[in-house]
Amino acid sequence: MNSKESTVYDCTIIQLPQVNAEGGNITAINNLTEVPFETKRVYYLYDVPGGEARGGHGHKELQQLIVAASGSFDLIIFDGKIKKTFSLNRSNIGVYMPAGLWRELDNFSSGSICLVLASLEYSEGDYIRDYREYLNYKK
Ligand code: TYD
Repeated sequence: MNSKESTVYDCTIIQLPQVNAEGGNITAINNLTEVPFETKRVYYLYDVPGGEARGGHGHKELQQLIVAASGSFDLIIFDGKIKKTFSLNRSNIGVYMPAGLWRELDNFSSGSICLVLASLEYSEGDYIRDYREYLNYKK
């Protein structure tokens, strides 16, 4: 998909498998099975103060799967025209984001963990951090 043309409607909610193990649950995410891209990087946000928001940015090529591995937060996705909010609060629900979308994270519950599977290694050059630049990119 051309990242200049992606829209919020290209985001999908992915129900991840949950194994009910004794004393807790297990969710496994396999490349190209539950996650629709080859995962090159996994990172997670933690120790975010309750109620905190993380600044927004866009990505030119990066695809992501975002999961509230613990606690809850809002994932706000914008495509230059339409905004959509996903309230994530379950460890076995992910949101797939194709490239070319702007995202913000808001309303973190204290102790929450935002787990991100990413299709590329970290590259500052893939970020669009300026909102106006993002709007131009999507024109
Ligand atoms: P960033 O993605 O800008 O987070 P946010 O928009 O939520 O504040 O990441 C913050 C910093 O963390 C960034 O400037 C560099 C570093 N970082 C890495 O070194 N590797 C990574 O994989 C990520 C996601 C961030």
